[in-house]
Amino acid sequence: MSEAEKLYEGKAKIIYPTAEPEVLLTYFKDDATAFNAQKRGTIAGKGAINCTISSKIFQRLEREGIPTHFIDQPEPNQMRVRRVTIVPVEVVVRNIAAGSLCKQTGLPPGKELKPPLVEFFYKNDALGDPLLTIERLLVMELATKEQVEQLRDMALRINELLKGIFHECGITLVDFKLEFGIDSDGKLLLADEISPDTCRLWDEAEADPQKRVMDKDRFRLDLGQVEAAYERVLERILGGNIVT
Ligand code: TMP
Ligand code: ASP
Repeated sequence: MSEAEKLYEGKAKIIYPTAEPEVLLTYFKDDATAFNAQKRGTIAGKGAINCTISSKIFQRLEREGIPTHFIDQPEPNQMRVRRVTIVPVEVVVRNIAAGSLCKQTGLPPGKELKPPLVEFFYKNDALGDPLLTIERLLVMELATKEQVEQLRDMALRINELLKGIFHECGITLVDFKLEFGIDSDGKLLLADEISPDTCRLWDEAEADPQKRVMDKDRFRLDLGQVEAAYERVLERILGGNIVT
């Protein structure tokens, strides 16, 4: 795969075309960024780990009736996916208060959110991915009212499934970010990735608020043992046989 062939390069992934027009190849990088790329680094082995975790989760979600862009994983750090046009909205679901929610509202970290909170962010690096209201989202014509309802319903359904999958692995799903795309038939598919880069994951067996963190917060907050945490999530997912 040459530089010239690249279709798109993001902070954590590169997308290449394939011989089939409706199929793209996603290459997962070891590069890590946080706080809108103000903090940069590398997490050794992350590409293959995130690609494998995402692949297993997408396969399980497909089995549970969620349409995703996943086709297969030809190499540990490569995923073949259906070509979609990404909806420029990041859908965040929160089961426990953390991160930007606490920073912006003063809610105490760790507060359980029942029912789960669904938030929409504008996927736009230049603007720093701002939080959207539904009204803004509609004015900006990022999605229709019906699509917003569909995104919310799918995100909540995915949350219930993911909470169960991670619980099977001894992990608490605190929050996560989803991206969706529309394929050439106009169908809404779950896209991007689901990994320790895009979820907050806490070890159920660990009460210590720093030790329990198994996700990118270890990198964001300089908690150390970043690679080891990603590897532990992979081991749990593989050991949990979530796709059998
Ligand atoms: P936040 O608390 O920083 O808004 O993050 C909420 C969730 O979304 C958390 O699980 C991390 C994930 N996330 C991404 O996947 N990409 C991003 O760019 C950001 C800001 C958060
Ligand atoms: N990956 C995001 C960025 O660098 C932020 C994050 O995940 O915290 O913009």
